[in-house]
Amino acid sequence: MRKLSVEDVKVQGKRVLLRVDFNVPLEEGKILDDTRIRAALPTIRYLVERKARVVLISHLGRPKGEAKPELRLDPVAARLAELLGQPVRKLGQVVGGEVRDAVDRLGEGQVLMLENVRFEKGEEKNDPALSRRLAETADLFVNDAFGAAHRAHASTAGVAEYIPAVAGLLMQKEIEVLTRCLHNPARPLVAILGGAKISDKINVLRRFLELADALLIGGGMANTFLAARGFDLGDSLYERALTAEAQAIAALSENGRCRLHLPVDLVVTPELKTGGSFKVVLPGAVGGGWKAVDIGPDTVQEYTRVIAGAGMIVWNGPLGVFEIEPFHRGTEAIARAVAGSRAFSVVGGGDVVAALETLGLAGEISFISTGGGATLEFWEGKELPGIAVLKDKT
Ligand code: 3PG
Repeated sequence: MRKLSVEDVKVQGKRVLLRVDFNVPLEEGKILDDTRIRAALPTIRYLVERKARVVLISHLGRPKGEAKPELRLDPVAARLAELLGQPVRKLGQVVGGEVRDAVDRLGEGQVLMLENVRFEKGEEKNDPALSRRLAETADLFVNDAFGAAHRAHASTAGVAEYIPAVAGLLMQKEIEVLTRCLHNPARPLVAILGGAKISDKINVLRRFLELADALLIGGGMANTFLAARGFDLGDSLYERALTAEAQAIAALSENGRCRLHLPVDLVVTPELKTGGSFKVVLPGAVGGGWKAVDIGPDTVQEYTRVIAGAGMIVWNGPLGVFEIEPFHRGTEAIARAVAGSRAFSVVGGGDVVAALETLGLAGEISFISTGGGATLEFWEGKELPGIAVLKDKT
């Protein structure tokens, strides 16, 4: 990695402002999935063991510069304390007198958590005044929040103007693995892209068409590709305005190394509801009143064959409406194929990760990225602001 990491600098006794992405799903104060908290543990433990004074900072949700009681970080601090096996003092402020006093009194190896940084109006504006105040109570900035690295905010980027900034261990691992997908993949590289819309993933589609050996398409975005090929998709959802773009992307595959695979059959339903009736049809036979909601069994068979021959697999986005049974089957079959493959597999994006967790297959994946939008932007080849600000190795 080109960037300095926490392993390259002295941390003992230092006041370390550690940006983490603890943007976890919450329901009535209960954490539904603590993956992101667990993912930050190696860096926190590393700092604690080396007697740094650790000040954690994170966002949670999108409170838009206002203090929203339901988005306070108290449940997150409590969960972290359990996982860490040591107290985590949670403050009610992001900056100010309470923070200054608490950091002054913080002992070596102790951990403190600030309030949700998005309660501050300056955070999303990357306001230099907030960045400076954040930096005032720290000697070193460690960014471990890969999931928020695509945001140029005060606590992800701005603060690095005022104190030295290095990557945390999770950030380092994310950069290493996601870079390997782009620059040094084991071949054949198979990219699986699903999800509702092409519009969210145009650049990633184009990138993997250049880099991968096979691109497997599913989910609502497959409908747009099929419509671009001239199929009548009945009442299926697709992006009419993007059929020309889909056609252009498909044309790229005809001239390049990458083979673009589209569904050869579809699961269609008249009503998208749990236990809804369905049939399997060819792409041209959806019919009025029916919508395509999953890939069909022949597509599963074809995609499974391609996955079985892969050297590396990258996957973002479900292949059908996974959350509504029985339209989960295509995603489930592909998840089993990826989990069972000997290839190095990398999954990014909350939907597929949730599907893998539900199926008990997450442990079979070589690397699960903690990023959603950040992973996609990284794969697009964009420079993420939260990474760009970190010190380069000399
Ligand atoms: C995420 O959940 O993808 C990150 O925490 C970023 O959150 P945001 O989309 O609200 O900036």
